Formats: sequence, C-alpha cells, structure tokens
Amino acid sequence: MSSQFIPFHVPQIDDEEIRSVVETLKSGWLTTGVKVKRFEGDFASYLGCGHAIAVNSCTAALHLALEAVGIEEGDEVIVPTMTFTATAEVVLYFKARPVLVDCRRDTFNIDPDRVEQAITAKTKAIIPVHFGGQPCDMEPIRQIARARGLTVIEDAAHALPASYQGKKVGTIGDITCFSFYATKTITTGEGGMATTDNTEWAERMRMMSLHGISHDAWKRYTKEGSWYYEVLRPGFKYNLTDIGAAIGIEQLKKCDAFGAARKRIATAYNEGLSKLPEIQTPVCESDVQHAWHLYVIQLDLERLKINRYQFIEALKEQGIGTSVHFIPLHLHPYYRDKFGYAPDDFPKASETYQRIISLPIYPKMTEAHIEHVIAAVGKIVQEQRR
Ligand SMILES: Cc1ncc(COP(=O)(O)O)c(C=O)c1O
Repeated sequence: MSSQFIPFHVPQIDDEEIRSVVETLKSGWLTTGVKVKRFEGDFASYLGCGHAIAVNSCTAALHLALEAVGIEEGDEVIVPTMTFTATAEVVLYFKARPVLVDCRRDTFNIDPDRVEQAITAKTKAIIPVHFGGQPCDMEPIRQIARARGLTVIEDAAHALPASYQGKKVGTIGDITCFSFYATKTITTGEGGMATTDNTEWAERMRMMSLHGISHDAWKRYTKEGSWYYEVLRPGFKYNLTDIGAAIGIEQLKKCDAFGAARKRIATAYNEGLSKLPEIQTPVCESDVQHAWHLYVIQLDLERLKINRYQFIEALKEQGIGTSVHFIPLHLHPYYRDKFGYAPDDFPKASETYQRIISLPIYPKMTEAHIEHVIAAVGKIVQEQRR
C-alpha cells in the first residue's frame, strides 16, 4: 500500500469562505436572507440568465422545476439511465413515470435519437443530464422538444462552468438545475440553484421552495418585514441558508479559476493516459466547454487480466480513491423491479458501466498527485495486461 492517499475528492475551502461564514454567524441572521439574495443575484449575473432561485439541493431544484411546469400523475418524463437516482426520483414524486433512455458510448450523454423513440402521447418533459460536466448535444434535444411541445429541464449538477456552442449551461433549456453538494465544482456543503428566463416559473419555484407562502416571506423577522403571510399552495421546505450562501458567494468568485484548474488536470491525464491502449480517456466534443466535474476512464477489458472491481482495488492499494459514475438506473433493484427493465434494454449504458472508473480531479490536487495517479494507472496496466 502506498503511504500517500489521494482522496477521490477534497473541497477547496479557503480563508474567504471561512471569513464569510463567520461573518454570517455573527450577523444574527442564519437562514434565508440577504446572503441568499446576493448569491442568487451573483449567480444570475455570472450566467446571464433571467432568474436564479437558490435551494438546498439540486434534487429540490429538479422537483420544483417539474412542479412549476405542471408535471402530474400519469405523465412521462424522459431521463437518461446513465445518471444519479435524483434525476428520476423527482419524477416519481408526482406519480409520473421516468422513461429511461440509453446513453452514447463516447460521451455517456443521453442519445438524442433514443429520446425521439421514447416519446409517447404522455411525454411532458425531457431531463438531459450533462454527464461529468460535458454538455449534452442540446440542439437536437431542443428541436425534438419544440416539435413535440415538451419542456427541457437540464440536470446540470455537474456542469458549472460549462457551455454548448458558446452558450452557457444555465441559459439553454427551459429550466436548469445545479448542485452545490460537497463534491461538486462549487459547493455550499449542500445546496442547489434553478435558473430560468421564465418569470412565471421562477415565481412559482420561489414560492414553492418555502412552503408555498406569499412573496418575501423570508423577510418577516426583519425591520422591513411583516408578521403577516398567506399560504397559497402546499409547498416544500427547500430554502438555502445564509450560511450556505456565504460559502457559495465566495466559491462562485473562483468558479472560472476552479474550472481552469480542472481542465489542466484533465489535459495532464489525457497526455499521460492516452499512451496506454488499455485505457480509453474521455471523449471531449469540439463545440463545448467541459466543466470536468468528473474524469472517467474506460478500461479495455479484453486487453486486461483484471476487471473494473479489481482495478479499483489495485488503485486503492496504490493510494488512490476513485468512484464509479454511474451504476445505470435500470440496473438498480427499484427501477428494475418497478419497470421490469433488463440490462440489455440499455446495452450502451450496461456495457459502459462495466468499464468505467472516475479518477480524482479537483483544484487542490498538486502536480505530484496528478503524476502519482498517472503512474499508478500505468503500473497496474503494465502488471495486468494480457
Ligand atoms: C447527475 C446528478 N443529478 C442530481 C444530483 C443531486 O444533487 P444534490 O445532491 O445537490 O441533490 C446529483 C448528485 O450527485 C447528480 O450527480
């Protein structure tokens, strides 16, 4: 076992975030307040979108988005199988059906041709997921949605900062949902944001994020606030705290620098690993800015004596933490049993799953860490090639 351990992820929290949190703790206002307002304003300006609604997770943002566009019991929503369960579970909150779709073998993003084939009279929305931070091919998806009258809600949990054909993710689909979970490209510990240019949806999401009570209810304990509020709908408790926003404001200032650092690591990995015929490095499309939230290698299992599980164990022996993104939804007991999905229903995702490993990629990694990861992958390949 190597003496050095490189975790799969370490967040980049500096003095600015700590100062900002301490200032908030001392301010006497801990929950949703001026810091959340500022974070929303900064986020909307950063992306150039009409509205940004801060919430306590991307899952909450996705739920609010589906509620705002009017998803109801019996509706169908198209979701890639190559994603985290959050993308599909929010559809189930409505007793609607997440209709799974296979991925592309190169980018692991949703295959637009399969989207078209999955549409029925019940389909109401599509949730493309920008896998690992690489934007999906949004043009065909938007064309399909426009032609069929469907809403596009982007799961951009991985995609900040990212762009597609020069347009920032967060300004493309009808509503876009971001995650600030601890491992994401910027973090608030737990948190999320929904962005949209549609004022009606924005107001609906804002209201439903705080119990469905009337506008600016968060101000009710301030000098300009009032004790009076009205409940307009049975909403949810999804608001972000000012403590979280205090971290987010500082993280957002560094978002481009974090993105550049991730890109440098991806480039170094590409150079170091593409020499190995047993390893396929990620495919990056030419017309996108990739957020590099994940760096996913694929093993050429035909050229290796060990499988993906054993490769991960060997990396752990070399002091490297890894992960797998994702176990496709159709292989999980719930989705398999509830909808009767079989592995062969989504052959590309099933095949991809057997071969993938997510390597560490985060701004805190040093040159020595990066070299250690490249050397360790090389050493395992050399020992295990057929
Ligand atoms: C693709 C995807 N969507 C949604 C989520 C949910 O994000 P959150 O933890 O902020 O709810 C995740 C979390 O990892 C994710 O990977």
